[in-house]
Amino acid sequence: MKKKPANPFLTTGYHSPEYFCDREKETGQLLSNLQNGSNTALVSIRRIGKTGLIKHLFYQLPENWRSIYVDILATENLSQFLNVMASAIMNALSEKGNPGKRFLNFLKTLRPVIRYDPLTNTPRVSFNQQQTDETETSIRSILSYLEKQEFDVVIAIDEFQQITNYPERNTDSWLRGIVSALGRDRLKLIF
Ligand SMILES: Nc1ncnc2c1ncn2[C@@H]1O[C@H](COP(=O)(O)OP(=O)(O)OP(=O)(O)O)[C@@H](O)[C@H]1O
Ligand SMILES: [Mg+2]
Repeated sequence: MKKKPANPFLTTGYHSPEYFCDREKETGQLLSNLQNGSNTALVSIRRIGKTGLIKHLFYQLPENWRSIYVDILATENLSQFLNVMASAIMNALSEKGNPGKRFLNFLKTLRPVIRYDPLTNTPRVSFNQQQTDETETSIRSILSYLEKQEFDVVIAIDEFQQITNYPERNTDSWLRGIVSALGRDRLKLIF
């Protein structure tokens, strides 16, 4: 269990549902979008509560759903996007359970390097790919792998606007294109 914050009016981050106010309509709308297979883009001015809303939503998902939070603020190109996304999925699907073990076996076929943070023991996945098309293929493979699982998956890509700074052109529409081509039965995205 998380330690109680000294000040209940949080100025950074998300703690837990007890410290999150209102936003019932927004949470309900997001949940309904996901259950109906619609991807959602969250757009607002800064500090309005997008990240908090995503984390809050994750507490309300149906029991057998998996949630993956990916913060791409620190990424500068598609290759770093792939690394951050693969690491977030590894973190979310714990290696102790079957989905995590299966994902790890699948991931190994893409030949990444997997290191563990010595302090937190969380996995860090990196691909030493040089070619953009290889990176694109790996991203597509990972997303289509998730689409084929027996559980529903929500991937929230926070700070999505960062993608417009990547040197690869039109990453935004490319990514939206591959996600809609997957069919969205199991995999849903929040940007
Ligand atoms: N519903 C809420 N109840 C209580 N505190 C909230 C709520 N929503 C957001 N906050 C607080 O407001 C601050 C800003 O929220 P958050 O970081 O989620 O905003 P954001 O829209 O993601 O910001 P940015 O655009 O900078 O990424 C945080 O300190 C968060 O704890
Ligand atoms: Mg945010």
